[in-house]
Amino acid sequence: MADLKTELVDRIRAVVSKSELGNEPRPVNLHEPEIGELEKKYVLECLDSTFVSSVGAFIPQLEERIQGITGAKHAIAVSNGTVGLQVALFLAGVEYGDEVIVPTLSFIATANAVSHAGAVPHFIDSELGSMGMSPDALREALAGMTRENGVLINPESGRRIAAISPMHTLGHPVKIEEICAIAAEYGVPVVEDAAESLGSYVTTASGERKHTGTFGLTSMISFNGNKIVTTGGGGVILTNDDELGRRAKHLTTTAKLPHKWEFEHDEIAWNFRMPNLNAALGLAQLDKFDRFLDEKRRLALAYGEVFADLEGLKFVFEPDGTASNYWLCAVQLDEPSLARRDELLQACHDAGLLVRPMWNLLHTQRMYASAPKGQLAAATALHASLICLPSTPRLAQGL
Ligand SMILES: Cc1ncc(COP(=O)(O)O)c(C=O)c1O
Repeated sequence: MADLKTELVDRIRAVVSKSELGNEPRPVNLHEPEIGELEKKYVLECLDSTFVSSVGAFIPQLEERIQGITGAKHAIAVSNGTVGLQVALFLAGVEYGDEVIVPTLSFIATANAVSHAGAVPHFIDSELGSMGMSPDALREALAGMTRENGVLINPESGRRIAAISPMHTLGHPVKIEEICAIAAEYGVPVVEDAAESLGSYVTTASGERKHTGTFGLTSMISFNGNKIVTTGGGGVILTNDDELGRRAKHLTTTAKLPHKWEFEHDEIAWNFRMPNLNAALGLAQLDKFDRFLDEKRRLALAYGEVFADLEGLKFVFEPDGTASNYWLCAVQLDEPSLARRDELLQACHDAGLLVRPMWNLLHTQRMYASAPKGQLAAATALHASLICLPSTPRLAQGL
């Protein structure tokens, strides 16, 4: 074990020390945004325009750019990913008292968005290959449901299964085609939590290169400060459905009816629009997006190489048939062990490498202790074996 700790620290250092950032006299962070002159220029332009809030030219420009990257027909900018996911669930028909199937291995927002939509998360297992929702676990969960008047019901809770919300873990695409096919069999909409996966693609069975977040009925991508592209706080809702796209914009902008001076609103809606100031920052980031993607990939390849021959730990590569954005690079213990994982985390932190574990499993969070769940063996093993490595794009400069 002493060896593995030293090996992990030394091998991370071997990669990050090739860059200026990795040699600064301060700890190496998990992920840092790159904020430079371009961001300042666009934000100053926005300030000078005085359009700093929910109206302004940068917002539609950002939405267009995201449509271009993802191929989604509609991208609606919102103030953060969590509310974006809440609205994406609402648009898919999730109502108060429903149940939504989510992976237990995810960030808290995946479950919280379900709760904010008035529903209850139903936690299922992950799959070791992609670290995302297991199609087998989904099949098993759905097979246990009953049909009442054409509605899919969890017989144990009596609640309707209103949606399935898989997540693309650390940017690696989940088995989304298979999940969508299973969901379609049961007539349940898929709402993708694509928070982490801007720039991640799947090669579909028909050979099409399709962006994550464009498979489900609706989805969300986050632009939090720790994501591959940031707006400070922000996100987008994606959909290919024209009516849902229109409603997403309407519902996130107080459902105000267009009029020169009248304040007439036709629904109880939200004020979730992304401010122009944030969109200005995001546009500057998007100008650098191709470089960020390239740097993430080069960093991943370098980690992949240094960990190739290490016994006990392996680098987590993108799943076959996908192109991951490698938002966060990770290594995985051959033998899951929370104690060993934590020793490694401690050794890295002692060495100034601010690595992170995965999130605590959602079904173990106190708010969700009594939520419905399946067997969760793979997620439990992943939680006890994964360590996220420093993944700031600039760490690849010099590789
Ligand atoms: C998987 C996942 N879902 C949802 C979110 C929520 O996004 P935000 O922080 O923009 O609210 C995040 C990231 O923060 C995330 O990683």
